[in-house]
Amino acid sequence: MRIVSGIQPTGNLHLGNYLGAIRNWVAMQDEWTAKGGECLYFLADLHAISMPHEPAVLRAGTREMVAALVACGIDPARSILFNQAQVPAHAELQWLLTGTARMGWLNRMTQWKDKAGKNREGASVALFTYPVLQAADVLLYQATHVPVGEDQKQHLELARDIAQKFNNDFAPKGENGEDAPVFTQPEAIIPPEAARIMSLRDGSAKMSKSDPSDMSRINLTDDADAIMQKVRKAKTDPEPLPSELAGLKERPEAANLVGIYAAMAGISQADVLAQFAGQGFGAFKPALGELLVEKLAPITARYRELRTDTAALDAILAQGAARARALAVPTLERAYEALGLLRG
Ligand code: TYM
Repeated sequence: MRIVSGIQPTGNLHLGNYLGAIRNWVAMQDEWTAKGGECLYFLADLHAISMPHEPAVLRAGTREMVAALVACGIDPARSILFNQAQVPAHAELQWLLTGTARMGWLNRMTQWKDKAGKNREGASVALFTYPVLQAADVLLYQATHVPVGEDQKQHLELARDIAQKFNNDFAPKGENGEDAPVFTQPEAIIPPEAARIMSLRDGSAKMSKSDPSDMSRINLTDDADAIMQKVRKAKTDPEPLPSELAGLKERPEAANLVGIYAAMAGISQADVLAQFAGQGFGAFKPALGELLVEKLAPITARYRELRTDTAALDAILAQGAARARALAVPTLERAYEALGLLRG
């Protein structure tokens, strides 16, 4: 078992990241490192330069994200926690894989279409080749499992396509003529609940760091007042909560809040409805706000303690990067060799 996943260190860690991915990172760390599996979690700072950015903000955001991940339960002694920029093998392997990835595959990526919008000519080349770097991130370590939210599924499928084509085209045969693939096909691990948390202002848009309205998301750094206010102002409809899940169809905002409640309380959405059926949002929203405050308060408190100790955060990254660099060597060398590139 090799578990690998990443997060962009731009903006705050929000509830979508937490419920869609980070909570799973922690659970997988707790379960698999005890059985000898390895977890690599990284800050995708190389991905972050695909959009316009301020260098000082990226630098600070990278350290803050380390503090946030540790506050959520990522333990740098058990997991390898690092940033891509300190492990050059990510960028090297990306280049090797750009010979395998096809323009047509990248053109179909919905995130590329969404982020480039109508201005494709003005988008960075990095934004277009971004999924190839993401493939390199996981293939470099022979990842078997990649815990992500729903929005990263397509990128993971692309990583599998790249691995397969590279193996077909270039993997040398083993001693007895058997297949000896260079890359492992990684499997996406998407949580059954909360795989896609939506904006609090618009039930059709995902909760995102790049949404200009801070009211659209709950940040893990928000204090109790901010959380209560954001939930109180969340967009809803005038109907009471239904008793059956089918009653949430066509009610995206209500479904989103019920989904958040279920994920935070660790119960099913049906259980939430059993508890709140017939009640309006005047009753449900304060209950949801209080639940969020209660569950997030310990994380926020720990984050505030950790975030100011720059030296400790840098040490975590340096130590994680040294371990990741060592793990990356064999696969990177095999990829160079498979392509016929001489390496003294
Ligand atoms: P990023 O930084 O946008 O998000 C980090 C993780 O949070 C999940 N997520 C969500 N889940 C549920 N609901 C939401 N509203 C929501 N918003 C975000 C994402 O699915 C992701 O798991 N390209 C990636 C980072 C990356 C990566 C990788 C991930 C780079 N290399 C290799 C996995 C493997 C990204 O921008 O995630």
